[in-house]
Amino acid sequence: MIWDLFGVHITFLISIVIILIVWLVWPKRQKRIKKTFLLVLGVVLLTALITGLIAYWPYQFEKTYLSNNQERIELEDFSLARLADSVDFYVGIGVLPDSLYQYWVPEEFNSVTAETHFKPSKLLNNPEVWEFDFTTVDGILEHATAHNLRMRGHTLIWGKFPGKTYPIAWNKMVDKADDPSEAMKAIIIRYITDVMTHFKGKVETWDVVNEPMGGEVLYENVFTRTLGESYIDLAFHTAHSVDPSCELILNEAIRDYDGPQGTAFLGLLKRLKERGVPVHGVGLQTHHINNIHDVDALKRYMRAIGEMGYKTEITELDIRLLLFKKSKDPYQAQGDQYYKITRVCLEEPSCQGLTIWGITDRNNWMDNIPPFSWKSPNAPYILDENLNKKPAYWGIHKALVEQYQNR
Ligand code: XIL
Repeated sequence: MIWDLFGVHITFLISIVIILIVWLVWPKRQKRIKKTFLLVLGVVLLTALITGLIAYWPYQFEKTYLSNNQERIELEDFSLARLADSVDFYVGIGVLPDSLYQYWVPEEFNSVTAETHFKPSKLLNNPEVWEFDFTTVDGILEHATAHNLRMRGHTLIWGKFPGKTYPIAWNKMVDKADDPSEAMKAIIIRYITDVMTHFKGKVETWDVVNEPMGGEVLYENVFTRTLGESYIDLAFHTAHSVDPSCELILNEAIRDYDGPQGTAFLGLLKRLKERGVPVHGVGLQTHHINNIHDVDALKRYMRAIGEMGYKTEITELDIRLLLFKKSKDPYQAQGDQYYKITRVCLEEPSCQGLTIWGITDRNNWMDNIPPFSWKSPNAPYILDENLNKKPAYWGIHKALVEQYQNR
């Protein structure tokens, strides 16, 4: 619904421009036509204004969790990490290297993913001359190792946005090569070998390929253009040969578990299995950006992946508050969804754990990336902007407590 409104608003903005152009090039400006033009322009302007106001106007939801007499919280003093450790589960966090991360993460989590700093665009400081900068990641890694946190590597090959998810220089290198496929292979092998060698023995699990799916087919990019589906095979075989002890994950954002993209991804997993590609597990990102995920469908999906012999893991969980704008208490509804997702992962035998994609709403990626940044509040995480624990935190906590008590 929110997106429909943005769409209507943008359509009206475009209409204004078209009307003005038509007006400027119109040959004979008779009075009657002028009047009609002005009338149409007025109506369109007004509609653009109204739809714009509705589309962009931020919502404000009451933080009932700050004032309510909370229901009794069982094992309130147990941290998420303590509960997770005792039920053999990963509860992880996506981090940016800031001070909050330094002190809060080891208390509450037993797994860490760097939100951006392990990506090719960050590591390859100067792709033209293949120069790496590992300074920031080494700091994150050192901190994780010192606190005995599992380190997830995210991500090696991600072909979605040239220049953003991988260096644009790779396109140039491939395009000017006599044999583009060979050039692409060389880049994949060199990149994965260099990066995984640097982290060998320290990063326990890598998202080797991220978001390979478009809709029903693979996302079209420089990797598929040169190598087709086999770029995925190559990436995993290379990763496995560099560090055979590392767990290798294929990470994907499934929009609709029962829909065409979800089904196509299962097909890809089946083919990879048949070809003996060393994919050990599947990461389900589980970002809730445009829709509230159907937890039963997620459960069935995890089950299907598990039955193929893969481990699963929720790798980038966040739940946009705005999605609950129709609820009586959106913060609580968000917390309930965190609870349900955590329960699914705890109950499904293939699911090893979940990672929340950030710590505090104060600093969340949706606020920085359009179109999500256009409408607030996104507030997708488990601490609010003043670092209060939200129902989202207690939702995960409650799900873990139930597991702990029934262990
Ligand atoms: C996002 C990060 O959170 C942002 O900080 C960054 O600017 C863009 O990428 N799917 C993924 C993640 O696999 O790497 C993305 O992370 C979110 C979508």
